[in-house]
Amino acid sequence: MSEKKILITGGAGFIGSHVVRRFVTQYPGYRIFNLDALTYAGNLANLHDIEHLPNYQFIKGDITDAEFINNLFNEYGFDAVIHLAAESHVDRSITNPLEFIMTNIVGTVTLLNAAKKLWTEKSGKRFYHISTDEVYGSLGNTGFFTETTPYDPRSPYSASKASSDHLVMAYFHTYHLPVVLSNCSNNYGSHHFPEKLIPLAINNIKNNKPVPVYGKGENVRDWLYVEDHARAIDLIFHKGKDGEKYNVGGNNEWKNIDLIHLLCKIMDKKLNRPDGTSAKLITFVTDRPGHDMRYAIDSSKLQRELGWKPSLQFEEGLEKTVDWYLANEEWLTQVTSGAYKNYYRQQYETR
Ligand code: NAD
Ligand code: DAU
Repeated sequence: MSEKKILITGGAGFIGSHVVRRFVTQYPGYRIFNLDALTYAGNLANLHDIEHLPNYQFIKGDITDAEFINNLFNEYGFDAVIHLAAESHVDRSITNPLEFIMTNIVGTVTLLNAAKKLWTEKSGKRFYHISTDEVYGSLGNTGFFTETTPYDPRSPYSASKASSDHLVMAYFHTYHLPVVLSNCSNNYGSHHFPEKLIPLAINNIKNNKPVPVYGKGENVRDWLYVEDHARAIDLIFHKGKDGEKYNVGGNNEWKNIDLIHLLCKIMDKKLNRPDGTSAKLITFVTDRPGHDMRYAIDSSKLQRELGWKPSLQFEEGLEKTVDWYLANEEWLTQVTSGAYKNYYRQQYETR
């Protein structure tokens, strides 16, 4: 396994940067290539601490550009791909679905084609596709998503991810491409772009701005600390079986409104504000169209077969996350300026 050349796509994004950091530092014998188009969500500042290491290389490029991708695979002869590059925000997929179709579907097929062409000898090769629990649709008050739950995506984002999952499995069955796939619940932690609920709320509370809660805040998400996801990705990459899929989740369900109240309590403490100050910023706004009610992951296959389990209690992980955002003001200022600012205004300040 030493001297493996691994292409990680989307490594400048939230989860990708944690995966890149883990692989570069834990496996000095691997060469890690981070391919990222640096969209609004990609930020090389996420990787400042490891970019000097000799086994790390950044490549700027778009996964939908077939000529570029084929040349890249020929030039470097990658042994494995860990594919995270995607358009990832549900609200953006509602306003601009085509971008999601291009990156999440066409981009994935472009990478699959390049791997298929390069890997005439398949031994030791692996194409690992990172996906989401949103492909399974929406749950009622009970039940969990398992690996055999039928796909039932509801948003353009989840439909594009479902499509890419099907294509990855189709390349396994049709061309015997050595693939593995995982579907994870909501991640939280450092370097999370502040359009998503937790970092958006932290940033707004810090700046005394309204915290927008969609609908009545009754929707439920299953939250997992991003480093626990990166550890699951490491395990599945090394020990998962070809053609298999694995669910990854925190077993940690929270109603949005309860989560926001917990966050407000933590923020009051960290900012030395009187109890109840941050909660006054909570503002109920128009619901997300087609808003999935509840996600809950059954990760027992991953726990049983590969020995993974989440390591952090939610309260502890959330405090660590808040500490990181409060200590990294410059990062927040940088990512919330320019194009993002305009988007934010359109989405939230005109409601
Ligand atoms: P993110 O939006 O933070 O990062 C995506 C990265 O992909 C960015 O660095 C961006 O520049 C890059 N990218 C986008 N389009 C590209 C293109 N055409 N070519 C090359 N690079 C491109 O996303 P994230 O939250 O880190 O999610 C990473 C992956 O994990 C996605 O596939 C997502 O569907 C999946 N996922 C995310 C979560 C979550 O809670 N965030 C949960 C489960 C699964
Ligand atoms: O479940 C995994 C998915 O989790 C990933 O595949 C996606 O890439 C990731 O973005 C995330 O999707 P969600 O839509 O669940 O995450 P988001 O942070 O956008 O929203 C979390 C919940 O909070 C959801 O019920 C919508 C609600 N929400 C969100 C925002 C941004 C609000 O109430 N107010 C907000 O301002």
